[in-house]
Amino acid sequence: MSVIVLGSVNMDVVLSVEALPKAGETIAASAQNLYPGGKGANQAIASARCGAPTAFFGAVGDDDYGAVLSRNLEDNGIDTRGLKVLAGKRTGQASIYVSATGENSIVILSGANHDFVFDDDGGPMPVPAGAAVRLAQFEMPLAAIRAFFDVPGGDAGTRILNPAPALPEGRPLLDLADILVVNETELATYAGAPVNGDPSPEAVIALAHGLLSRPDQWVVVTLGARGLVAVGSGDKISIGGLATEVVDTTGAGDCFCGALAARLSAGEPLSDALGFANAAASIAVSRRGAGSSMPTLQEVVARLGR
Ligand code: RIB
Ligand code: NA
Repeated sequence: MSVIVLGSVNMDVVLSVEALPKAGETIAASAQNLYPGGKGANQAIASARCGAPTAFFGAVGDDDYGAVLSRNLEDNGIDTRGLKVLAGKRTGQASIYVSATGENSIVILSGANHDFVFDDDGGPMPVPAGAAVRLAQFEMPLAAIRAFFDVPGGDAGTRILNPAPALPEGRPLLDLADILVVNETELATYAGAPVNGDPSPEAVIALAHGLLSRPDQWVVVTLGARGLVAVGSGDKISIGGLATEVVDTTGAGDCFCGALAARLSAGEPLSDALGFANAAASIAVSRRGAGSSMPTLQEVVARLGR
């Protein structure tokens, strides 16, 4: 069974800096690199490298970045028949600073991503049949995400939504997902409560409970180096972080989502798939770039010692 990803494609223009600049500050970078990015493309690459047949829906412009990035998706074995090349539009771009400790700050220019529509004729969405998992994030038009998840007849498989970046107006879409994957910032936005420093596990669990809208829904909160907690209506899963050398956290959350989708599509139980995704993300943070840092199935299995 397969994974279908609806999401963004960006060229990441990355400046390596000692520390992230403060407002009004001018600092020097030690290097500039281009990496394939965009939350959607990153998640699709993670899914494909983790062994799932993966199809992608999204949009690039008819420029050089678009050509390079769509080729990169193909080189990763992804079915790109759903990737549109929009004439006269610019491919999405992200300006990223990465500090010596691996932290980042990101500014996105959406470009073609925000012009994506499923079918210009208003017909049914041309999605491959038999997909086990659908995966989306919030760098696409909300109407497209709704069409992707709100499948007539209700046979959408497992719908995983990573509502990132945090977008208050996207809140109604959360109820359409079977599994939500959020970090602490996104959790605070959607739960309507501020995150104060390092919240206790109990506080995180309470906020996550508040996002549940159905008995069969799960909210997964990724906690960076502290691992994750997943909350269902009558159940809870906690998994600790794996010690790793942090080089660049860009795309770590995307790696988690793509790896989770891949393992669920292979029929793995949620708790095992979460453990796999946690290990996959611990590899991604030890490598530079976003799409380029996604591990393979074999690498994650070795990391887990399975
Ligand atoms: O999640 C990381 C991604 O967010 C980057 O690759 C950047 O393109 C932005 O979309
Ligand atoms: Na990375």
